[in-house]
Amino acid sequence: MRITIVGSGYVGLVTGACLAELGNKVTCIDIDKARIAKLARGIAPFHEPGLNGMLKNAISKNCIHFTSSYKKGLLQSDAIFVCVGTPSKKNGAPNLEYVSNVFISLAKNIGDHGVIFIKSTVPVGTNKKMQSLFKKYNKNPEIKFASNPEFLKEGDAINDFKKPDRIIIGADDSNVQQIAKKIYKPFNRQTNRMIYTNIESAELIKYAANSFLATKISFINEISRLCEKTNANIDEVRQGIGSDPRIGAQFLYPGLGYGGSCFPKDVQGLIRAFSANNLDANIAQAAEKSNDLQLQFFIDKIKKSTNSSLRKSNILLWGLSFKPETDDIRESLAIKLIKAISSQVKNLYLYDPVAIPNSKLELKGIKNIHYLQEKYAKIEECNFLVICTEWREFWDPDISKLQKLKNKQIFDGRNILDQKAMLDANIQYNGIGR
Ligand code: UGA
Repeated sequence: MRITIVGSGYVGLVTGACLAELGNKVTCIDIDKARIAKLARGIAPFHEPGLNGMLKNAISKNCIHFTSSYKKGLLQSDAIFVCVGTPSKKNGAPNLEYVSNVFISLAKNIGDHGVIFIKSTVPVGTNKKMQSLFKKYNKNPEIKFASNPEFLKEGDAINDFKKPDRIIIGADDSNVQQIAKKIYKPFNRQTNRMIYTNIESAELIKYAANSFLATKISFINEISRLCEKTNANIDEVRQGIGSDPRIGAQFLYPGLGYGGSCFPKDVQGLIRAFSANNLDANIAQAAEKSNDLQLQFFIDKIKKSTNSSLRKSNILLWGLSFKPETDDIRESLAIKLIKAISSQVKNLYLYDPVAIPNSKLELKGIKNIHYLQEKYAKIEECNFLVICTEWREFWDPDISKLQKLKNKQIFDGRNILDQKAMLDANIQYNGIGR
C-alpha cells in the first residue's frame, strides 16, 4: 500500500518504520527540513532503541522516503497518518494549531482518494472539527476520516507497535475499517486486536487510558507516603495488591511521580474535557495533585535528612530523562527536582547515558551544574547521591565506589537499589515508601 505519515516525531517515525518494514511504500512528511535531511540518512532526531537500524534498512529497500513537500508526499496515498504533536499551551490546553495546518495542507494536496487517520492525541470532538476544516478546501467524498490513537511507550515503541494490546479504529464508514484491517493485518495474526468504535470514543479512549495509568501511579505513590509514616513497606504492599488480577502488577511502581510528554498533558486534557462539559473531574484532578505532592515529599525528605548541611553539599544525580531508554526530558521529574533544589545546594553533578545534550539546553541558566561523562566521576567530591531515573546501569552499582560519597547517603527515587546491601555497606539509604 502507499502510506503517508505526516509528522516525524516518535509516533510518526515508529509507525513509518514498522509499516515500511512490511514492504509498504511509505513517505514521511515533516516541515522541518533539517530533520528530513537527517532522516534521509537514516538518523532519527531522538533516541529510540532499534529505530535507526529499521530506518536504514527501509531506505536501502526503497520502502521509505522523506520530504517536506505535501505534493510529493501524498502521491496517490491510500492512507495518511497524522502524527504531529499537540503540546500543551500556557493555559494547559492542547495546541491544535499543527493538526489544523496539516488538515489544510492535506485538503489542498491530497489525491483522489485516501483515508486520513489521526494518531495525534486530540481532545474528543477534534476529528469532526478537522473534517469540517478539510471540507472548506476539498469536498471530495472519496476522502474518509478516522481516529487511530497510538499506545506506544517511549523506549519500547517498536515492540509496542508490532505487538499491540489493541488497535483502536474510530470511524463512521465501514470502508475505513477494511483499509485499517489490511494495514494492520500483520500485527493482528494470533489474536484479533482490532476494536472498532465511533470517532469520539476512539479519541476519548486515549485520554482515559493514559489518565487511568497515571491515576494508578499516583495511587501507589500516595500509599508509599503512608508506608513511610507507618511500618509498612511499599514493596510488600505493591506485591500484595498487584497479585490481584483485577488490580494487576503493571504501572504500580512508586517513584518520583509520572512525567513525560503524555501523562501530565493527557490528565490535564481530560480535566479540561470534563470542565468543558460542566462536569467535575474528581479522580483526574486528584491524580494530578498527588503527582505534584510526590516530588515535593521527596525533596522534603532530602532536606530533612541532610539538615542544615544541604547548602554546603555537592550532589551527585543519576538519571535525567523522564524514564529509561529515551533522551526525552519533557516533564522529567529529575529536571523538576534540579530546578527546585539547585539554588539550595553548592554543586550538582549530573549523569545520564543519553539525555545530557537535551538537559544542557533546558538547564542552561543554572550556574552550579556540572555534567559527567561517567557516573562515578567526582563521587569523592559529592556528599550524597540522588537517583531519578531507573536506567539499567544504575541497578547494581559498585558499592565500594558508593562508599566514597562523603556523607555515605543515597536517595533512591525509583527504588532500584538493594536496601539491605546498602545498609550492610554502612550507606544510609532513603527509598520511596521503604
Ligand atoms: C505513555 C503510555 O504508557 C503509552 O501507552 C502512550 O502511548 C504514551 O504515553 C503516549 O500517550 O504517547 P510514555 O509516556 O512513553 O507512554 O511512558 P510510560 O512508560 O507510560 O511512563 C510514563 C511515566 O510514568 C514515567 O515518568 C514513568 O517513570 C512513570 N511510571 C510508569 C511510574 O512512575 N511508575 C510505573 O509503574 C510506571
